Amino acid sequence: MTTDKILIQQLKEEFFNKYSKKYKLLSNDALGEGCYACVFKGFDIDRNINVAIKIFFDGIAPKGSERGWHITSSIIHNQIAPTSTIESFYSEVLSKNCKAVVQRFIPGKTLKSILKKFDELEKNENYQDVLNDFGLSYFESLLNVLNFCHSQNIGHGDCHDGNIMIFPEQHPSKNSFHVVLIDFDNSSIKETLNAKSEKEKIESDIGLLKYFFNKTFCDWKYYEAVKIMLDSYDKMKELKFCYSIISNYIESCIKGNKTESDAKKTLHKLPHPFMGFHIPPTIKCLQKVAEIEGVSSSFEKALKDYRKVISNQENWKHEITIETIKGEVTDIYRKLFDD
Ligand SMILES: Nc1ncnc2c1ncn2[C@@H]1O[C@H](COP(=O)(O)OP(=O)(O)OP(=O)(O)O)[C@@H](O)[C@H]1O
Ligand SMILES: [Mg+2]
Repeated sequence: MTTDKILIQQLKEEFFNKYSKKYKLLSNDALGEGCYACVFKGFDIDRNINVAIKIFFDGIAPKGSERGWHITSSIIHNQIAPTSTIESFYSEVLSKNCKAVVQRFIPGKTLKSILKKFDELEKNENYQDVLNDFGLSYFESLLNVLNFCHSQNIGHGDCHDGNIMIFPEQHPSKNSFHVVLIDFDNSSIKETLNAKSEKEKIESDIGLLKYFFNKTFCDWKYYEAVKIMLDSYDKMKELKFCYSIISNYIESCIKGNKTESDAKKTLHKLPHPFMGFHIPPTIKCLQKVAEIEGVSSSFEKALKDYRKVISNQENWKHEITIETIKGEVTDIYRKLFDD
């Protein structure tokens, strides 16, 4: 055993000795370890839930821990693991006060471990089906939670593959995967993270989202189509919206629905150009999907029809009416949520 491993076992024992009435250790093997800490699966006796207890190699996180333990982002979402508490314990081995972060235990696997398995699956005849399932559920789920955070002007800031948990979801007709983010807010307590503003964290999330998409999906049949989206949009709300359109079309194509009328159905889900969303890159992505599927000519016919519809002023009036109503309704909501 390396010195680090011996030390972390000793720290773990000191923690569980102090909190023997509060937490039970469920496995001697760590759930995993990062650069600063080792995480163990435990059981919170009073609350009857499984927890992930993070114990730092230095007893406490590096310098960054000096910043205190304030929760800065106070975000609540079912795709973000809540940090329940920070526990203190004295370590005889390190001769100092230490802290451990207790997080709700999240089932599933990290993206990091899934990626390792993907390498082994490359030659499997069902690999494209696996990528279809992950592309249409996992990636959508990831965009969903990050878009929620960013719409509140809050970034994760350290959204790497070790902090993205994925688990299968029960679904009657498909294989679907759901994402939960761990190490949000003070669970990570990295010094570098503390220094970042929310704007920088948001930028970092977008960069990592693109990086890990390339890493995960570079062999996917539809990779080149989604790549256009990643190269064209830089805000999570644009990425999420564009992906909802293209994933819908990809799903339709996978099911064999790729006629001109199927393409029309997708195109008519696009917002009216007056609604402020920059449509051309989304159309390019859809064109690429059609090209990959070998149905470019029927797609182009549908596109021509769509352009005719949106350039007809009669149809504009209709769209503008929707927008006007939306403005009034928005006013109602503003009043509902005003203090
Ligand atoms: N709440 C949790 N539920 C389940 N498993 C967890 C939880 N938190 C952490 N883990 C597991 O412990 C591992 C180590 O976590 P840790 O945050 O220490 O390292 P990391 O995220 O891989 O890297 P970094 O040091 O950059 O944060 C994770 O990769 C994950 O497998
Ligand atoms: Mg982590």
